[in-house]
Amino acid sequence: MRETELIRSLRAVRQFSDREIPNEILFDILDTGRWTGSSKNTQPWDLIVVRNRETLAALATCGQFAGHLAGAKLAIALVMRGDDAWSCMDEGRLMQNLMLAAWAHGVGSCIGSIYPADNERRAGALLGIPSNLFLRTVLSIGYPASPQALRLPANAPVPKGRRPLEEVVGWERFRERQG
Ligand SMILES: Cc1cc2nc3c(=O)[nH]c(=O)nc-3n(C[C@H](O)[C@H](O)[C@H](O)COP(=O)(O)O)c2cc1C
Repeated sequence: MRETELIRSLRAVRQFSDREIPNEILFDILDTGRWTGSSKNTQPWDLIVVRNRETLAALATCGQFAGHLAGAKLAIALVMRGDDAWSCMDEGRLMQNLMLAAWAHGVGSCIGSIYPADNERRAGALLGIPSNLFLRTVLSIGYPASPQALRLPANAPVPKGRRPLEEVVGWERFRERQG
């Protein structure tokens, strides 16, 4: 449906063009993220915008699947106050809102997970993050390099598409099919 097309069409983009992201668009992405709802409205986050190419390259080594950060136009690091389930949910909502806000402007993004703990410490030191805070996610941000950048390569080690709706949704009871 047209009303949900923006949300539905959001894909992970890992190849980026050199095209500059205008400042007003970047600020809109950040400000939309700021408006994310959180548990008890605690807003337990700080954001760091990274444009320095050396820092991006170093961050790209801080997670097994974070290599795309090296080619991003910029990155947004999500610094969280906690590591309990609520904090992780708050982080997920923030992450998705930033990604959707970017996509509303035609700007692609992809999550780079920062792990394990020694990589989190290394990334935290690179960005000057106090040791009592958590850095699990850095988003690559940039215009897609090409329409192909919205598709996974044929040899990608993750499943493509999504599980069918009939499989995902149960009616009245777990996995109960519609009669
Ligand atoms: C919690 C979480 C962590 C992720 N970490 C990474 C990552 O480290 N590197 C990466 O390339 N993609 C990462 N992704 C992106 C997923 O691979 C992507 O959402 C999934 O493959 C669906 O992609 P699609 O929307 O393009 O179909 C992560 C996604 C989530 C939700």
